[in-house]
Amino acid sequence: MSTSKTLIAGATGTNGRALIDALVAKDVPVRALVRSIEGARATLSDGIELVQGDLGAPDSLSAAFDGVDKAYIVTSVQPDTVALFRNFYRAARNASASHVVKFSGMGASDTSPSEVIRQHAASDTDLRASGLPYTILRPNSFHQNMLWQAGGIASTGKFYLPLGDAAQSTIDVRDIAEITSTILTTDGHIGKTYDLTGPESLSFHDVARIIAEVRGAPVDYVPITPEAAEQAMRDQGMPEWSAHSLAEIQALFATGQYAQVTEDAERLLGRSPRSFRDFVRDHKDAFMT
Ligand SMILES: NC(=O)c1ccc[n+]([C@@H]2O[C@H](COP(=O)([O-])OP(=O)(O)OC[C@H]3O[C@@H](n4cnc5c(N)ncnc54)[C@H](OP(=O)(O)O)[C@@H]3O)[C@@H](O)[C@H]2O)c1
Repeated sequence: MSTSKTLIAGATGTNGRALIDALVAKDVPVRALVRSIEGARATLSDGIELVQGDLGAPDSLSAAFDGVDKAYIVTSVQPDTVALFRNFYRAARNASASHVVKFSGMGASDTSPSEVIRQHAASDTDLRASGLPYTILRPNSFHQNMLWQAGGIASTGKFYLPLGDAAQSTIDVRDIAEITSTILTTDGHIGKTYDLTGPESLSFHDVARIIAEVRGAPVDYVPITPEAAEQAMRDQGMPEWSAHSLAEIQALFATGQYAQVTEDAERLLGRSPRSFRDFVRDHKDAFMT
């Protein structure tokens, strides 16, 4: 086992934490790039090496890359992600990183109606042009996004989303993490872009039915307009740009263009990806009253 480190940016988030668990299970030495050491200590397991750095502060990244061989980056949805990714690529190049794995999004395209998806397309293009050995992950939405609705479902038996009757092939974050850990520890992934979906495409009426079956109590999906969804997110205190960009991407999902089931996840996992029903069973308590 190599003693050089794999640097994880976005380590305290949903995917970063799942990836660290998957790498630690394989005894891969990891270093987590975090904005707040104190905040990360509360989020990440003891024993994970932490380095303070901010993707928006390029000078803070060179020390983070000291002794690093491979690197992974995911960031939150925000207005300046293209610049944040670029700073990370530059630091990785200066450190002669042997592999950079970048978390993107399914359908990344310069002409997407969603700004978040256009940002992913731009930062994927930057990575390909950087000269770095890279792998790009393009997952569909996560099963775990339904945890945002779990409190409402538990208390009222309803959830409200602007997704109409469209189906989506959502994927489990645990499977994305397992796939990413494989990519970081086996050969053959340089220069590849993987489209990652779950094993099936479900409408949100199907999603409601599955949650109802698993929790043993009714669940109603109530389709709402993108405008109502955006207003509700603002009312909950979400910043203007975030509420708008999330409503925009949901309007894209509502067209049904994210229903495609791809083979990449099954091939990389060597088994069928976790179904939405598997996910709900494993998180049943969150959906109960
Ligand atoms: N949700 C979906 O269904 C879906 C589907 C496909 C793709 N995606 C993509 O997935 C990404 C979000 O993934 P996630 O849910 O795992 O993220 P997340 O839970 O929002 O976590 C984001 C991470 O990025 C870190 N971060 C943000 N700004 C930073 C900065 N300036 N410097 C250093 N670290 C910074 C955060 O650190 P702090 O702890 O300091 O905040 C956090 O660790 C987005 O790019 C989104 O487009 C999402």
